[in-house]
Amino acid sequence: MNDVTAITTSAIDTWQEQSADASLQAVIERGGVVACPSLAFAVSDEEGTLFDASLAGDQRKSIYIRPGRYGITGTTATGATRDVVATMIERYAAASHALIDGLFPDYHARAHATGTSFRPRAIGDVPSGKALSWRKDDTRLHVDAFPSNPTRGDRILRVFCNVHPTTMPRGWRVGESFAAMAKRFLPRTRSLPPGGAWLMHKVHITKRPRSAYDHLMLQLHDLAKGDQQYQRTCPQTAIDFMPGTTWICFSDQVMHAAMSGQYLFEQTYRLPLSRIADVDASPLRTLERLTGRALV
Ligand SMILES: [Fe+2]
Repeated sequence: MNDVTAITTSAIDTWQEQSADASLQAVIERGGVVACPSLAFAVSDEEGTLFDASLAGDQRKSIYIRPGRYGITGTTATGATRDVVATMIERYAAASHALIDGLFPDYHARAHATGTSFRPRAIGDVPSGKALSWRKDDTRLHVDAFPSNPTRGDRILRVFCNVHPTTMPRGWRVGESFAAMAKRFLPRTRSLPPGGAWLMHKVHITKRPRSAYDHLMLQLHDLAKGDQQYQRTCPQTAIDFMPGTTWICFSDQVMHAAMSGQYLFEQTYRLPLSRIADVDASPLRTLERLTGRALV
């Protein structure tokens, strides 16, 4: 089956001073993943001694920073240790911005960064023994769509790096193309009820009004995750990202599932379509073609 997400390997081995690369840009904008097995993020000895699942607070899987907001969230660390963790995450953010600024200057990465996280928990280590709902179970193939944070068609670009100190890979599955997944599940989606988006925004369930696009994306996320038969039998491939590997993709477009691993960095950008070269390949335009209507 050739409709499975392609993984393109790149020899990039430094975060700084990359030249613009239109072919890699085309790869990710068309729903592929770029993997850089020689692009490690260096962790200092002091930082390395802090690596432990308990660094993340109860109920948390990520420790994160957000641009424009002071400090870090989601960690049990205090005092000087907290500062070390914060500086490490900020360093990852800076490395990621340098990489994306070099490879894809049109993205204006720094201006569109929305958050940076360090994930010290192993996949499957559910915080505080709480049963994980299937909706939040990221071992099921899905595209990223966030209930409280509608994108209205903006793209979600993510830069991941496996920083496991020994040999544990980050095991992913990737699925079929966005268009194939959407064609399969669109017939089972429902329209937003009249006034629903306005009300959810008004009572602060959402940060901004949900568009018809967001409503569809959330349903596609849920329909795919909720369909066990689909999870088992859809076109897919498994890939191990070894420690020292960085990978880049639009996670609103790539069907992905995180199956195993521990200690990951992740940088997120929210890019307006005006920054994207191949707008026709975007999830928004794909869904508009398939539904025959404007969705934002
Ligand atoms: Fe995801």
